[in-house]
Amino acid sequence: MPASIVVGTQWGDEGKGKATDYLADGMDLVVRYQGGNNAGHTILAEGHTLKLQLIPSGVLYPHITSVIADGVVVDPRVLLEEMDGLSAVGVDPSRLVVSGNCHMIMPYHLELERVTERFLGKNALGTTKRGIGPAYADKAARIGLRVQDLFDEAIFREKLDIVLREKNQLLTRVYGRLPLTPDTIVEDYLRYAERLRPLVTDTSKLLHDALLVGKQVLLEGAQGTMLDLDKGTYPFVTSSNPVTGYALASAGIGPREVDRVIGITKAYVTRVGAGPFPTEDRGPDGQRLGELGREFGTVTGRKRRCGWFDAVIGRYAARLNGLTELFVTKLDVLSGSRGLKVCTAYRADGETFEDFPPHQSLFHRAEPVFEELEGWDEDLGSVRSFGDLPNAARKYLERVQELVGVPISVVSVGPDRTQSLSAG
Ligand code: IMP
Repeated sequence: MPASIVVGTQWGDEGKGKATDYLADGMDLVVRYQGGNNAGHTILAEGHTLKLQLIPSGVLYPHITSVIADGVVVDPRVLLEEMDGLSAVGVDPSRLVVSGNCHMIMPYHLELERVTERFLGKNALGTTKRGIGPAYADKAARIGLRVQDLFDEAIFREKLDIVLREKNQLLTRVYGRLPLTPDTIVEDYLRYAERLRPLVTDTSKLLHDALLVGKQVLLEGAQGTMLDLDKGTYPFVTSSNPVTGYALASAGIGPREVDRVIGITKAYVTRVGAGPFPTEDRGPDGQRLGELGREFGTVTGRKRRCGWFDAVIGRYAARLNGLTELFVTKLDVLSGSRGLKVCTAYRADGETFEDFPPHQSLFHRAEPVFEELEGWDEDLGSVRSFGDLPNAARKYLERVQELVGVPISVVSVGPDRTQSLSAG
């Protein structure tokens, strides 16, 4: 059973790219299973800082085939730009394959998201404005255009004409914008098609065949469990399912193939965009975490909201995803924290919740129950083995592990590849 899944256990930005990069040596294929270019991986490798939003980070390894599976929404312009960016720093992107079933982000998705977020005013979701939500909405409404549509010009034009008639009505009559012209879109997308054609394949069959001969497959989620469309803090979520169940649907493989589920967990918690966040610290401690952790979004550059480790969402993520291990990131950022805290439960409406509350309003009102732990001052950046961590840092990790109920397998203490310590 050679498939593993990497999933974010919080609101995204847990450091999944780092974990994938750490695990990639032993992998043959790395598969991105949902989201689009709303995700951001920052990877530090061979002296380059690379920012990828769509292409799986496995692309950095010449021995890995990187796969964009059905459940991802692809903006072809962005995909080609990222490929060019990789080539420019000497990384060969030609081992990338893309499913023909992926839905595409179209210019009207970008335009519509801009105006609808504005329309929502103070209720705006704070999306990444990459057209992700509108593209998934069209997929569910069955009016989406898929990558495979690019290779039949007549079909592409026909589908585009139908959908654009409705979108242009919306843009002009509801939002007072200018209509989009089909010819420009056709011209641009057919140009993208020429370059995309060699990458497009039946990725489900490719993965099936790879697993049959014992190849190692890593399925990589974007965003995080709390941004899941069904299981997250709806409506302040993304429009796809980061939880591991969806990895299988998207990749087109069965559950018996998976034996490792790695939950990526930042040693504290961050969130970008609007929505409830019980352990958020709006004071100097949160500010300090943001500064030391350089908590700015990879995609939009927005400042991330920061707070303390939350074991309630940790346990929730463990059970939703069937986690077999935790990969804890950014432990070094907690060095020097005064009054180091972890949240063990919530209080809402006079009740204590050790589990994620069953109703949205309760979560919005949830007050964290904190436990204070001993801090440490040592800089962890140069620690290269788990045993060399200061006692208090080890105790912190032990408490995290105990509260979440899943063993920690790796801890990272800095952005470089060498700064990941195996706990085994
Ligand atoms: P969307 O995915 O652009 O529709 O944005 C919906 C929500 O998900 C917003 O709050 C975004 O800030 C958040 N979001 C989307 N992608 C990421 C990510 O990769 N990291 C963190 N937050 C994200």
